[in-house]
Amino acid sequence: MQDMRSTNVLSPYKEQQISYYDKSARNVLISDQEIPFPEGKLIVSRTNIEGIITHANQSFIEMSAYSEQEIIYAPHYILRHPDMPSAAFKDLWNTIKCKKKWHGYVKNLRKDGAYYWVYATVIPNIRAGQIIGYTSVRRKPSRTKVQECTQLYAQMLKKEHNR
Ligand SMILES: Cc1cc2nc3c(=O)[nH]c(=O)nc-3n(C[C@H](O)[C@H](O)[C@H](O)COP(=O)(O)O)c2cc1C
Repeated sequence: MQDMRSTNVLSPYKEQQISYYDKSARNVLISDQEIPFPEGKLIVSRTNIEGIITHANQSFIEMSAYSEQEIIYAPHYILRHPDMPSAAFKDLWNTIKCKKKWHGYVKNLRKDGAYYWVYATVIPNIRAGQIIGYTSVRRKPSRTKVQECTQLYAQMLKKEHNR
């Protein structure tokens, strides 16, 4: 995946290298501007079994700040924010691969370097007993939970970096 470009990003920003589970890496540019979750909307995406985005609704596209062409067939980690601990996503994948539903709070990174918090429910799509992909439906998270998760994820990240 391409590095983020400073011309797309809100100033001031910080640059950080981020490594993904598939061993690829890129430079991301992060600003500390939060974009509020759109009132009364759901942010929905579907992926194949490898986590490649196959469908995204209008709210998803708008909140990501990418175009539909950029987001469809991109790996879902295109939205990964470096403040998110790996353990959260390990838990997500371990749960959904067992054909179970996962719930969690996620801080996502937009194309313009800003971020947005969601409360996500990820479900496996099963046909004839086989997982054929996954769907994530995201709702507006409570501010209390966002504050709790900000602290919790910072502690988890610290532990991951000290390992
Ligand atoms: C249906 C579905 C939706 C996902 N939504 C997000 C998301 O909104 N943000 C995100 O960072 N990761 C999301 N993920 C997890 C990513 O696939 C990935 O595990 C995560 O970004 C961390 O990257 P890494 O596993 O390569 O380290 C989703 C996965 C699935 C299956």
